[in-house]
Amino acid sequence: MNILVIGSGGREHALCWKLRQSPRTDRLFAAPGNPGMARVAECVALDAGDHAAVIDFAAANEIGLVVIGPEQPLVDGLADALAAAGIAAFGPSAAAAQLEGSKGFTKALCTEAGIPTAAYARFDSGEAARSYTALQPLPVVIKADGLAAGKGVTIATTAAEASEALDALPGPVVIEAFLTGPEASLFVLCDGSDVLVLASAQDHKRVGDGDTGPNTGGMGAYSPAAVLTPDLLDRSMREIVEPTVRAMTEAGTPFRGVLYAGLMLTPTGPQLIEYNVRFGDPECEVLMLRLESDLVELLLATCHGGLAELRPVWREDAALTVIMAAKGYPVDPQTGTEIAGIEAAEATGATVFHAGTRRRSDGSLVASGGRVLAVTALGKDVGEAQAAAYAAVDMIDWPGGFCRRDIGRQAVGD
Ligand code: AMP
Ligand code: GLY
Repeated sequence: MNILVIGSGGREHALCWKLRQSPRTDRLFAAPGNPGMARVAECVALDAGDHAAVIDFAAANEIGLVVIGPEQPLVDGLADALAAAGIAAFGPSAAAAQLEGSKGFTKALCTEAGIPTAAYARFDSGEAARSYTALQPLPVVIKADGLAAGKGVTIATTAAEASEALDALPGPVVIEAFLTGPEASLFVLCDGSDVLVLASAQDHKRVGDGDTGPNTGGMGAYSPAAVLTPDLLDRSMREIVEPTVRAMTEAGTPFRGVLYAGLMLTPTGPQLIEYNVRFGDPECEVLMLRLESDLVELLLATCHGGLAELRPVWREDAALTVIMAAKGYPVDPQTGTEIAGIEAAEATGATVFHAGTRRRSDGSLVASGGRVLAVTALGKDVGEAQAAAYAAVDMIDWPGGFCRRDIGRQAVGD
């Protein structure tokens, strides 16, 4: 089968890397792809926003499956457009993608279905949000309602911070109560009726060691996340994920794709922080390294039904990925700096996924985004995976980059 992957980040490189290993994959295309993906796929210049162009390309190249990596094309209805053209697409419809595209939508669904989540109120903007926020206990959590690429959340510890955050968000906002506890990400596949648990992972959202500094898209991850014990996993499925999937089906907008539940494991049990409707990045990188089963089979069953019959096999090993970012990220990343040493890093046994790189005409590799490389390794536990990932990081010769040195700290200890 010919497969097209939409996207250009570390998540999509990891998906391509894994899809390439399937005996069912014939030609593999990535749009637009990146220099790392070019080693396993044919990169094509396609604009995911131009649905007609994607459909034409898929028809001309006999694509049997389109895998949509990022959230924006899902919220924009690319999966709907492909389905209408009779092309199988992995990823939810625009209606189901509202679980990520609108925090207000998800909060309302949680209220109706009795799903545990932080108490909240939603405002279109302005004065009402201000007066409500002023009455809330601190810290208070302020979020932009729409897609915000990880930048739309402020945890305000003073009234002045809350006011500043509201000033910076002109559009609709959601104000939430502050939850405490360890966080974990849970990934499940849904085919519209059945739900299949994939695995858990832990992201590291802050830019600095010790979870300091501003929020980012994610500076590293490991899997499995032991904080999500079998008991907490079971509760999360019963109290959060399954009622969500049922509610979506009952509303006539069944969810098909990967559902990523961001959970806070509070003293009273798991609560939903947010949903994403695609694989996490960099969580996808660690999941793909741990997955032994055929990814094509899992994605096709998600599109066409049949997840209930599948039991994916995972390596016993843990996986850990360290994001190398361009200096200045997330505020003002310095791009265009030259990167060397990737082969030496991979010679240690690690896998280096490209997240934001570009090849210059002279063949050299340069940084082209904030998050640039995801250096990923396996180990018999998180500690060994951490040691292996950092041994590979140390082989990379990139003066323009930096990384956190403590990915995995919650699992390994400081
Ligand atoms: P989100 O973009 O909704 O995942 O939020 C980003 C991060 O903000 C989360 O990973 C949490 O660390 C934090 N956060 C979001 N909502 C809350 C909340 N209600 N209470 C405490 N922390 C939160
Ligand atoms: N790693 C966080 C995200 O993908 O949203």
